[in-house]
Amino acid sequence: MYEQEKKMLAEAAIKQVKNGMILGLGTGSTTRSFIDALGEWVKAGGEVQGVATSNETVEQAKRLNIPLLSLEEATHIDLVIDGIDQIDPRFRVLKGGGGALFREKVVALMSREILYLADASKFVHHLTGPLPVEIDAFARPYVERYLRDKQLDVTLREHDGQPFVTDGGHLILDVDLERVQDVRHLAQELKSLTGVLETGYFERQPDHVLTVEQGKVRQVAHPNLRDGGGLV
Ligand code: A5P
Repeated sequence: MYEQEKKMLAEAAIKQVKNGMILGLGTGSTTRSFIDALGEWVKAGGEVQGVATSNETVEQAKRLNIPLLSLEEATHIDLVIDGIDQIDPRFRVLKGGGGALFREKVVALMSREILYLADASKFVHHLTGPLPVEIDAFARPYVERYLRDKQLDVTLREHDGQPFVTDGGHLILDVDLERVQDVRHLAQELKSLTGVLETGYFERQPDHVLTVEQGKVRQVAHPNLRDGGGLV
């Protein structure tokens, strides 16, 4: 996504932030633009507290003097603002391209409302993946074999030639979804395997998504909330 689009989404998302809110702060390049804008908002006198979904987001928020709460300290979360990798017409979402899926999912599940920021390329007819699967390193051979027995292609995620390690100290297997008819079913099946912590299929769906269409920010409501959409 172009930096300019991320800035437009960030500016539109800031309009949804109200004084006194406890915000779930996502992870990834789109959210990074939003957190930059939030830093400016706080600098200008806005009062908000954030719950971060990754060490990277903690560092950015601290640099910008955005007050943070741990999940234990937060009495509740009003609104999560985060990026996504893919969303289908029924608002089924894949996340985890940045590796923060587990904490992102916990924070999303605890939030009263979810707003995702996504450029048009993230809207797809079918979730094509890959599906990130966060696993304990010891269980890797077991989970890999299970997936390969189902004829699914699996890639261990790497960073700088080394296995990518999540903030929680786990590995990520990226599963190709080309042969998968029902991603939700696969995600549920994987969750039942010993050694699998979480997948990037997010059962809890967003209330709204902000996107950019023909140079304008558009808010798209969840199919169950339609009529709430429109240009912002
Ligand atoms: C982080 O783990 C992810 O869920 C990101 O939110 C997602 O990959 C979107 O990232 P970008 O905003 O960088 O595209």
